[in-house]
Amino acid sequence: MAEVVIVPSAADAGALVADEIVRLIAARPDAVLGLATGSTPLPVYGALRPRLEGVDVSRVRGFALDEYVGIDPRHPESYRSVITKEVVEPLGLDPDRIHTPNGDLATIAHAGDDYERAIADAGGIDLQILGIGTSGHIGFNEPGSSFASRTRVKTLIEQTRRDNARFFDSVDDVPMHCITQGLGTILSARHLFLLAFGEGKAAAVAGAVEGPVTSSLPGSAIQLHPHVTVVVDEAAASRLEHADYYRYAFANKPAWQGL
Ligand code: PGA
Repeated sequence: MAEVVIVPSAADAGALVADEIVRLIAARPDAVLGLATGSTPLPVYGALRPRLEGVDVSRVRGFALDEYVGIDPRHPESYRSVITKEVVEPLGLDPDRIHTPNGDLATIAHAGDDYERAIADAGGIDLQILGIGTSGHIGFNEPGSSFASRTRVKTLIEQTRRDNARFFDSVDDVPMHCITQGLGTILSARHLFLLAFGEGKAAAVAGAVEGPVTSSLPGSAIQLHPHVTVVVDEAAASRLEHADYYRYAFANKPAWQGL
């Protein structure tokens, strides 16, 4: 099962995951990071900034989870722009080594295959950061997504478009389609970190960690992965049946074990 770490705040979660990323880069200077967008990963990126000062990150590589289809990559809410602003620039990464799926309509028919090939050519993703949507999606794999899916075009459900409307002028401006790493792509990463904060995520977290493995709650795919660390605040953990056990296990974790 996933290891569940319940922390007091999103800042604590950011520090925990950032420390792990720093360890990874120290061991492997050309590490391949799986990068998430949205609000959830921001504490990780914020915590990485001071930790990476003076560290050579020139060879670090990265792959974003998803992108909107048909959006101008220069649009401030394209995930290319978001990753540039939140990750590449503040952390001083090489923009040529950080990839997002290509949502350009002219090449969309093969953009998924192209992205899969690029990930494979990089040797796969070492550490994948994940948020979870209120629908239970990871990446933009909405309910019903195949556990075997690879990067492809999906239609966003209305709930996700409403959730993301805060980044746009109105819900009508949120693109209808996206290109996202599939659940199979995500499950191929070597270590998954799923983060969630706040009461609004509590049901999705409980379903993903403790519910049945079902494509109706795509986040439950993490139960099929051998190395998952779920990092949640108290509110997001509030519906976990075995929360006391997770706290006990983490408090008594052997020091040699690491995350
Ligand atoms: P959020 O989105 O981090 O903005 O809450 C998570 C997601 O939709 O995966």
